Amino acid sequence: MSAGFRYREDGRLWAEDVPLETLAQRFGTPCYVYARSAIEDRWHRYQQALGSRGRICYAVKANGNLALLGLLARQGAGFDIVSGGELARVLRAGGDPASVIFSGVGKGTEEIRQALAAGIRCLNAESAAELERISAIAAESGQPAPVALRINPDVNPETHPYIATGLAESKFGIPLEEAEALYQQAHRDPNLAVRGIACHIGSQLMSVAPLAEAAERLADLARRLQEQGIALEHIDVGGGLGVRYVDEQPPEPDEHVAAVTAPLADLGVEILLEPGRAIVAEAGILLTRVEYCKRNGSKAFAVVDAGMNDYLRPALYGAAHAIDPVIRSDGPSRTTAVVGPVCESADTLAEACPLAVAPGALLAVRGAGAYGASMASQYNARPRPPEVIVDGDRAHLVRRRETIDDLVRGEALLPED
Ligand code: LLP
Repeated sequence: MSAGFRYREDGRLWAEDVPLETLAQRFGTPCYVYARSAIEDRWHRYQQALGSRGRICYAVKANGNLALLGLLARQGAGFDIVSGGELARVLRAGGDPASVIFSGVGKGTEEIRQALAAGIRCLNAESAAELERISAIAAESGQPAPVALRINPDVNPETHPYIATGLAESKFGIPLEEAEALYQQAHRDPNLAVRGIACHIGSQLMSVAPLAEAAERLADLARRLQEQGIALEHIDVGGGLGVRYVDEQPPEPDEHVAAVTAPLADLGVEILLEPGRAIVAEAGILLTRVEYCKRNGSKAFAVVDAGMNDYLRPALYGAAHAIDPVIRSDGPSRTTAVVGPVCESADTLAEACPLAVAPGALLAVRGAGAYGASMASQYNARPRPPEVIVDGDRAHLVRRRETIDDLVRGEALLPED
């Protein structure tokens, strides 16, 4: 079971020192539950592995809840953002703008302006055109913009194609062959201050070998740039370490850090990492209740109150996630499809789960600390679930359940004809 979540002798699943059953009574279902100690434990593992060689910039997209960002900010985290919205979240959570890296393939003019005004550490430009825009915006203020180029190293990360980002044909980054000329251009531009090199090759990686290969390619580029007199403060190797959703055996944070730092060791630059999932995924679950049990033909279904709008990964990537009963039953388990109430056949949280459940039973969908709440929608006019952080024997509601008013906020009827 996810770190921070374990069965006790009473056969019940607990989040730290609180039974999940109690949380369901108090906050209702569906509900995201995060274990503070598990988040901090993963954070410290990264931090200890990297030490003073660099900085961990948590990828906000994995889970941008303010309380969670605040927790990480207090631990000294930097942040990797991909939008003005994520920048606002970091600032509201008390994050230090000087620790913020702005990634993403399509930064808008206003977003770039906001990021420069906030004094972020670096913008990772993903094309010549974006670099030009950043330069033009920096010229308005007369302050050079701190930039890195995000390189597409053309390394196969061996993951789901939707979350592979470092292959030549992907939309991300700048081809390695074009990088040097663009660095020369940026170096000459008085509105730009070259700070480093960036890359991110993909997500949910089960081997560190592709990460090491990408780091080697960045190291070669860094050497060539240094020879040409282009000084670099940092190399940002992105995130991407996989987690255990069912029975995978992902590498540990220290293996990740060792693989990406070794090729960069003699360059004299600070090393930035941008893990998201590996910090928060296993520290969270989605708590849901079985509404109905039914059979269609030979197939058994448990219809639960959480749907693809609350947890998109199974529908979007065909991702498998372990689903565990909150109260263990001695009854015979049978292969059950766990499905949500949304009107889509893809609204299946698990195709074939061995479960002994009856209506009313509570289930915990594992790994939902990352890319759960942050990818949730209101599809089918479903208010989004609350988020709770458990800290020892205390449970904090860090985002309340949405209401119908939240659903229609900002909408208006047409005037009468
Ligand atoms: N840095 C950059 C530039 C990224 O694009 C990403 C993720 C990360 C860091 C963090 O990657 P992580 O350490 O979490 O693997 N929704 C998908 C994941 C999309 C990831 C996109 N970029 C999922 O649920 O699997």
